[in-house]
Amino acid sequence: MKNIVVLVSGGGTNLQVLIDAQNNGEIKNGKITCVISSKPDAYALERARNNNIKTRVLTRKEYPNSYEYTKDILKAVEEEKADLVVYAGFLTILDEMIVKAMPNKMINIHPSLIPAFCGKGYYGLHVHEEVLKRGAKLTGATAHFVNEICDGGPIIIQKAVEVQNGDTPEILQRRVMEQAEWKILPKAVSLFCEDKIIVKDNKTEILD
Ligand code: GAR
Repeated sequence: MKNIVVLVSGGGTNLQVLIDAQNNGEIKNGKITCVISSKPDAYALERARNNNIKTRVLTRKEYPNSYEYTKDILKAVEEEKADLVVYAGFLTILDEMIVKAMPNKMINIHPSLIPAFCGKGYYGLHVHEEVLKRGAKLTGATAHFVNEICDGGPIIIQKAVEVQNGDTPEILQRRVMEQAEWKILPKAVSLFCEDKIIVKDNKTEILD
């Protein structure tokens, strides 16, 4: 059974979907053992507590820089004996030291079809604002491994979602979550826990 540590910063709907998937038996060979938040008031912490999952808070604002912050996140991840780290709406960029320590062992969910609308500054609602500004007709979500390039790691699963007339960033965000993020994140996590993802040349092959 693999230990899964989930990193969060906000509402935690993706965390909730992982908890539900775990309770339904959809995540095979993995268990969420700890949730770490970069913000003390993240609602995601409440979701973890409601499900008797251990929580830790490492407030990003209390650290002078990303390097010092990453050192403590990594220490916590190692203390929790994590086999997999999931960035579930974790909106802090970590130093590459953690990528070296956990190569292809960290999964991020990003709310667009990478390589579109991703990279530095593209997070949360901003992504959907940019999609609407550009007039894209299709968007979606991507579950990918974290590497040293922001949103640049090997892609595991993607799912497309239509942009509709009259969409606001909030409406589009909700549709992308419901139709894409909440479907592909638990799937990617389970595939990892079942050792069904092979990584080669920054690409993945899924064994089925
Ligand atoms: C989600 O849409 C997630 O894809 C996004 O933040 C939101 C968090 O929602 N993540 C990023 O933009 C990462 N670059 P949640 O806290 O309800 O899961």
